[in-house]
Amino acid sequence: MLQTVRGMRVVLPAEARRFRLVEDLMRQVFLQYAYEEVQLPLLEATELFSRGVGEATDIVEKEMYVLQDRDGDSIALRPEGTAGCVRALEEAGCLYNQVQRVFYSGPMFRYERPQKGRYRQFTQMGAEAFGFRGPDVDFELLDMSYACWQALGIADAVQLEVNTLGSGDSRLAYRAALLNYLAPFARDLDADSQRRLTTNPLRILDSKDPRTREIIAGAPELPQYLDYESRVSFDALQGLLSDLQIPFVLNPTLVRGLDYYTHTVFEWTTQRLGAQGTICAGGRYDGLVETLGGRPTPAAGFAMGVERVVLLHEAMQPRALAAGQSADVFICIQDATLAGRALDVARQLRTDLPDLRVRTGLGGAKLKAQFKKADDSGARFAIIIGVDEVARGVLTLKPLRAGDGEQMELTPEALITHVARGIRQAQAAPQ
Ligand code: HAM
Repeated sequence: MLQTVRGMRVVLPAEARRFRLVEDLMRQVFLQYAYEEVQLPLLEATELFSRGVGEATDIVEKEMYVLQDRDGDSIALRPEGTAGCVRALEEAGCLYNQVQRVFYSGPMFRYERPQKGRYRQFTQMGAEAFGFRGPDVDFELLDMSYACWQALGIADAVQLEVNTLGSGDSRLAYRAALLNYLAPFARDLDADSQRRLTTNPLRILDSKDPRTREIIAGAPELPQYLDYESRVSFDALQGLLSDLQIPFVLNPTLVRGLDYYTHTVFEWTTQRLGAQGTICAGGRYDGLVETLGGRPTPAAGFAMGVERVVLLHEAMQPRALAAGQSADVFICIQDATLAGRALDVARQLRTDLPDLRVRTGLGGAKLKAQFKKADDSGARFAIIIGVDEVARGVLTLKPLRAGDGEQMELTPEALITHVARGIRQAQAAPQ
């Protein structure tokens, strides 16, 4: 048997239900904040990411799935959504002299070493705001992500870490100070960090290597190199977070792995997922629109790793979903000649009660086996279609859960009313 490609994931029904629940709740929050959905392509020109995310980043250097189109163009499976979102909105003329708040969701691809919470195909839900200088919109984005954690019941397990990278000038000044500090330790750094001395020194602060971390502990910190404007803006953001009671910690070594960030950067992390504890990350990227060919446009956003949010939701809210509940009504037939009638009744139920999940016992199994399947499906009612009953224009309704009354014969119309009432009562009852 061929196996799933390494790093790809299959989401079976039980997990898919939770996945959908989590995505729906987060989408609802985004809509509450009046962010609007955009749908973006999975394939983009490779150059979009080398220019947008940065040549010297891990993503571009070693994690992209790059392929050649049949006409020789180099295209890549998107490793993230921000660069494509900028390109799409710029191309459609939506960024110049306007403000925009959008969100997107869907698969991203990175050739990383797979482990729990880290996959080669994973799902992001991202939000981006264009045309706002901040820090008020930075706060709005943080507030919106916090509202997602609250809606999901996981807010107690996450922590917000924030930092500012300042303007381009303050970063240059800091880069020089950091290189100066690291120069005597160059040989002691891990191999990746040694390489980054020439490509992207700030990323050394992100190293997980113990010896490198020891060296970094004594390094100058970026906030000391902030210019006045950056400092005022970052202070204002912290003020908003405090006033509106979103707990946060300052993390001066938080630099992020993508090159487009300026000023505010942040990560939501949790201790509950082991090594892959960042469930959401983002920040301001005021230079990206221009880098990609547009006019200077301030921008900020974030992306959530949906698989990680789902894992955390499962750890915190194991009972959020009724286990094994895959149907509300199960239609059983006395013999195979009644299949057409069963499909017709199912269709009628689905039309009249659109929220109902209706399953039909097809495949010619005996009534007893169909009852077992009805029970296993978690359905509240079975509908039994028998030859006799069909002749008399009635159907049998059999409640499968205690307290739902006795088995009875009803006309199709009366049956629909009865089922609707029963399901409504069940939904209103405490779990
Ligand atoms: P990122 O930090 O590369 O940022 O990814 C955002 C989130 O996606 C991570 O915090 C994590 O939850 C999830 N993620 C990343 N890689 C994987 C993986 N291999 N497996 C599972 N989950 C993963 C960005 O992508 C930026 N575009 C975020 C952003 C939007 N910044 C501004 N706007």
